[in-house]
Amino acid sequence: MALLEIKKFPAPVLAQPAQPVTVFDDRLRALVESMVQTMYAAPGIGLAAPQVGVSSRIVVVDVDHENPGRRLFKLVNPVLLEFEGVLSWEEGCLSVADFSAEVRRAARVRVRALTPEQEEVVVEAEGLLAVALQHEIDHIEGKLFIDRISRLKRDLYRRKVAKLSRQRADHEGRRRVS
Ligand code: NI
Repeated sequence: MALLEIKKFPAPVLAQPAQPVTVFDDRLRALVESMVQTMYAAPGIGLAAPQVGVSSRIVVVDVDHENPGRRLFKLVNPVLLEFEGVLSWEEGCLSVADFSAEVRRAARVRVRALTPEQEEVVVEAEGLLAVALQHEIDHIEGKLFIDRISRLKRDLYRRKVAKLSRQRADHEGRRRVS
């Protein structure tokens, strides 16, 4: 099974609200399986379809890499039903290179979704799993964790990304002339 390429900020697909899934076929299930493999290989504890360039409402989450697969969630069209409490967690993202920041989230959530086989599931979560679910559901709304931190910190990160891409361009320019 092929691993998928993970899109990095500022790829436009990461900023778009994704489309609901309407067709539950083998193609969908193959995409979900590739997302799962890509998540484990990265390694990451969650991955949303926009991160692999597919603007569909699909997320996969597994916060327990010691026992991969035991608590693996493959959620299609997930909806946050209820949330309560507050918790801060140091978050990172496979699409946001070399950066992490404290983000405030709900401490407990209830999420309703469909499985890739189109069965309804309700997931109740707290702690890291609750954080991961909220982070991934943000992705299908076109939102990154850096949209939830202070403007100052976000601008700092934007400048860092801009500087790195300028350096890469310079480097490639020099290689071309030499
Ligand atoms: Ni992410």
